[in-house]
Amino acid sequence: MTTLKDSSIEKAQGISLRSPAKINLFLRILGKRPDGYHELASLMQAIDLCDTIHFSLSTTDQFSCSEASLPMDASNLVCKAVALFRQKTALTHPLQIHLHKKIPREAGLGGGSSNAATTLYALNQLLNASVSHEELIKWAGELGSDVAFFLSHGTAYCTGRGECIRPIAPLPAQSFWIVKPTFGLSTPAVYRALLLDSLEQRQPLYALDAFMKGEGVPFNDLEEAAWYCSPQLLRWRELLLLQGFKRVLLCGSGSSLACFGSPRKVPKLPEPGELFPVRFLQRHAYSWF
Ligand code: C5P
Repeated sequence: MTTLKDSSIEKAQGISLRSPAKINLFLRILGKRPDGYHELASLMQAIDLCDTIHFSLSTTDQFSCSEASLPMDASNLVCKAVALFRQKTALTHPLQIHLHKKIPREAGLGGGSSNAATTLYALNQLLNASVSHEELIKWAGELGSDVAFFLSHGTAYCTGRGECIRPIAPLPAQSFWIVKPTFGLSTPAVYRALLLDSLEQRQPLYALDAFMKGEGVPFNDLEEAAWYCSPQLLRWRELLLLQGFKRVLLCGSGSSLACFGSPRKVPKLPEPGELFPVRFLQRHAYSWF
């Protein structure tokens, strides 16, 4: 049993939390909005490819990252989440934060958004702020379209810009592979290349229903735009399909690809890149991932 004293000792030492990646089991783009974003409907799923973030109280703010090329400045979503939390709560105690990166960047896996959500959750715990979960979800929407999803239990149907989340019961466990070429893709560039009129008019609620019955077929409306931005990525997909994977799906806006269908078969990368064996990830209501 954790007594009040134990928990305050733990908090003085800080907390380390996993910050998971996600995939979009389906991503339907419904149209362009007056604010420049796209209206979407997506079934999102957390996966066990995780960064780790350590948070502790300090005497001065010290933010660091395992990757020297990732600046821990005002442009970083961790720092943006700290600034937003401080602005909303007026709790400005100095913090030490270390981000250990494992999720590749410009991959469409939501790494930065996940880091932001994990930071909101951690500060609420560490500073005993008692902000309600619903309020944290609202704040998450101010930080980015995908951030709120990471405050779900791991499976959610996301609409609006992506920030309106409806929890979905856990789906059957699945093992698959994520491959990430060394080149990345820019999310705004992929959205700009999207030809809305050429998209198949699939009904997202039918797709959701199919996944809930265990009959879902993954799809991503951003694929054609991503192949247009990077014909090299399309070649990766073709070469992976030739290796016998049943489905090779673009993750978010790319450039990573999810390979489904032959979990025991290790994909051969067509060119240099990274390879991760992954599984779906869920969390319990009163604990983190
Ligand atoms: O909200 P977030 O900062 O994650 O979005 C990054 C970019 O992705 C936006 O600037 C926009 O170009 C594109 N986007 C979009 N519609 C969405 C989500 C993202 O056009 N629903």
